[in-house]
Amino acid sequence: MLVPKSHLEIVLILFLSCGAFQSVHGLENGLALVPPMGWMTFERFRCMTNCELFPRDCISEALIRRTADLLVSEGYAAVGYQYLIIDDCWMEASRDRATHELQPNLNRFPSGMRVLGDYIHYNGLKFGLYHDVGEKTCMFRGPGAARHFELDAQTFASWGVDYVKMDGCYATEEDIDRGYPDFGMAMNLTGKPMVYSCSWPFYKSKPDYALIAKHCNLWRFAADVQDSFASVIKIMSRYSNKQDVLIANAGPGRWNDPDMLVLGNFRLSYDASRVQLAIWAVMGAPLIMTNDLETVRPEIKQLLQNRDIIAIDQDSLGQPGKMVLKVQNFQVWVRSVNPMNDVGDNSFAVAFVNQGGYALCPLCPQKFEVPLHRLGLKSRMGYNVMYRKFRLVQAER
Ligand code: GLA
Repeated sequence: MLVPKSHLEIVLILFLSCGAFQSVHGLENGLALVPPMGWMTFERFRCMTNCELFPRDCISEALIRRTADLLVSEGYAAVGYQYLIIDDCWMEASRDRATHELQPNLNRFPSGMRVLGDYIHYNGLKFGLYHDVGEKTCMFRGPGAARHFELDAQTFASWGVDYVKMDGCYATEEDIDRGYPDFGMAMNLTGKPMVYSCSWPFYKSKPDYALIAKHCNLWRFAADVQDSFASVIKIMSRYSNKQDVLIANAGPGRWNDPDMLVLGNFRLSYDASRVQLAIWAVMGAPLIMTNDLETVRPEIKQLLQNRDIIAIDQDSLGQPGKMVLKVQNFQVWVRSVNPMNDVGDNSFAVAFVNQGGYALCPLCPQKFEVPLHRLGLKSRMGYNVMYRKFRLVQAER
């Protein structure tokens, strides 16, 4: 991180390198003033419902209780990971015949969602649930919200749900444009504050981000993340190709969601893990892990709990960053962050990404030099570079 020098010459802070809230706009439910952090069942556990064959990996209350315990005991909750979100495949295939309410699958969630929500809250965490604005959930395992918005919002409120991930499968584009605001309204009417995560743009040929930002706390703008570096890079390009419109509509209370952090699974190397975490922080993305917390390797756990990177993601200026330079497979990403100096210049988090494939030596590190002003760093007083906490080097203009 580069902190502008000031006349007073006080400085603290951080780093970035890798392989004050303003007023709330948009949904204005007062939630997600910084990007939400937490854990979600998909992508790691996908739609595993066979608990006989896969007792540890099936979507069940056992998995959720185990994860709640680990979020706390392994130190994730203490650094900010607080939302525990059950993605698709928690439901019974049909609604309750008499009340038409959604029902959790009885075999896998025998205690019911209210009790599970209490357990999550008892651990000091927050409870998130997946739903779909259309006729069915994406995995076709449960009923969508269509024609039941008020009832479903009330059911969620009665279960103590704090976060709703609303998908958009099995709906037309017109249903989607009506459905997202209407479900948001139904949630507001319950009086229970719930973060509203929308997949709205993903289901539109030409998303209207200004409209979406009025109704959602976060929105998915790219395809599902997979457990691979190629997928991470693809989402990064999706963001950088649209970054002007994505940045213009995001800020406190309304965030671009590039999907989950796949760190801690099978296929990201240590360096690829650093890239995903750092770039997600520069984007100001929700930091929602999807992994088995029991088997996350210690060095990846350390990354996921790196308070310096988390501080960049949760920065109080609330401005998402962007890719400012791309030279072949080398990219530089920059985010304006606090603190400011005494003449109003802000600091910057800067991430260098070497995607590899360097012609002369594909797997080698690359040397790269660039004047700071080409990255948009133009403080006339110069910058101090903070490389991790307490390690300070000077950077000239
Ligand atoms: C869609 C979403 C994913 C996940 C699955 C579950 O693909 O984009 O994030 O919720 O549905 O079915």
